[in-house]
Amino acid sequence: MKLSVIGCGYLGAVHAAAMASLGHDVVGIDVDETKIALLANGETPFFEPGLDEILRDALASGRLRFSTDYAEIADADVHFIGVGTPQRRDGAGADLTYVDSAIQDILPHLKPGSLVAGKSTVPVGTAARLAEIVAPSGARLAWNPEFLREGFAVKDTIEPDRLVYGVADATRDEDTAILDAVYAKALAADTPRLVTDYATAELVKVAANSFLATKISFINAMAEIAEVTGADVTQLADAIGHDVRIGRRFLNAGVGFGGGCLPKDIRAFAARAEELGKGESVAFLKQVDEINLRRRQRVVDLVVDSFDGQPFDRRVAVLGLAFKPDSDDIRDSPALDVAVRLKGLGAEVVSYDPEAMETARRAHPQLTYAASLDEALRGAEAVVVVTEWKQFRALDPERTAELVDRPVVFDGRNILDPSAWRAAGWTYTGMGR
Ligand code: UDX
Repeated sequence: MKLSVIGCGYLGAVHAAAMASLGHDVVGIDVDETKIALLANGETPFFEPGLDEILRDALASGRLRFSTDYAEIADADVHFIGVGTPQRRDGAGADLTYVDSAIQDILPHLKPGSLVAGKSTVPVGTAARLAEIVAPSGARLAWNPEFLREGFAVKDTIEPDRLVYGVADATRDEDTAILDAVYAKALAADTPRLVTDYATAELVKVAANSFLATKISFINAMAEIAEVTGADVTQLADAIGHDVRIGRRFLNAGVGFGGGCLPKDIRAFAARAEELGKGESVAFLKQVDEINLRRRQRVVDLVVDSFDGQPFDRRVAVLGLAFKPDSDDIRDSPALDVAVRLKGLGAEVVSYDPEAMETARRAHPQLTYAASLDEALRGAEAVVVVTEWKQFRALDPERTAELVDRPVVFDGRNILDPSAWRAAGWTYTGMGR
């Protein structure tokens, strides 16, 4: 099929390359010329495992091209909207500027019978509004939310765990058939597919992210209780996780969730619920957010306490900047936040991250970035692990003890083995264990 993908950020760039790798003819559009030039050259503007390979292969096949010119989308059968919906600067709601302008920009080029398929995460009610704007062109609108996780974005796009099509009632069958043709390969592999109305499809995405965020804040709330009772939240998570109704995944206590999705999505959902007069229905999301933000401060407080309240000029190695491993994304990153807060208190913070140092440096040039993990550790008086990279998980406590000045470690992701670190002479503090 002929497809266009509007917006070539994390979502759109991966979607464009993945759809081309499935055999579709794809044009990726973005207003950012630098980004388009990079992608057209086979270079990824961000770190995502496996994206380089499928991008280069798709470009070489001739089935993928990138442009800043909207006229290039004219013969596409389906136009995917993958632009960002960040948090508004002036509030908790979603900023729909990019979605609205993408729709305006594609309008003059839509051929009758084509389908505009929104993938961006939007407040419920948006699709119905946009459908009316699109209708006079003879094109139709569907909402097809994306559930990809950073670090697994390529796999999640090619082999999604479910497909959701929010379609207009009157054209349900035609629109379903078009999207089925796009996702033929996943459907042949028995991927569950749900056809819904617009509102359900929009809500599926925010409900899923709200549930995941709630699961993480639930276990972090248990960590707070564990901290005052001497219980171990990791064992608690293992024990409750054996109940298949609960499940062990997304029950890792630590410095909490960040990234470009969960934090802003729960805030936008709460704001939208308020507008709908149903604020109380999701009022718990405010607490989910608060618990989450408290955990960042908790690790900072632990570090400060270890210096008897005087962190000024004390050297702290902060291991991790990205909001999660296998990503260079620092949006709303708990790790970066911890580094910035400690630096703000006067500590001599030296940060290291395997992938996110360049993105972090651009946003926070005032921080010190080590060229290597060893360099970050050398001379440290406290080591703080805040992103669960496997390099940090694999640190050898004995060798690491030789590098630092004071063997004090704060395991903000509960990924180190406390007994091994204590046996090597470290003062180990985890989160709720
Ligand atoms: C999330 C959703 O998982 C995905 O389905 C949606 O499409 C986009 O938002 P992503 O932002 O890539 O994906 O990150 P995710 O893997 O969900 O992790 C979010 C944050 O939660 C990270 O900061 C991670 O470190 C943290 N986390 C995750 C925990 O603190 N504990 C856990 O048990 C799991």
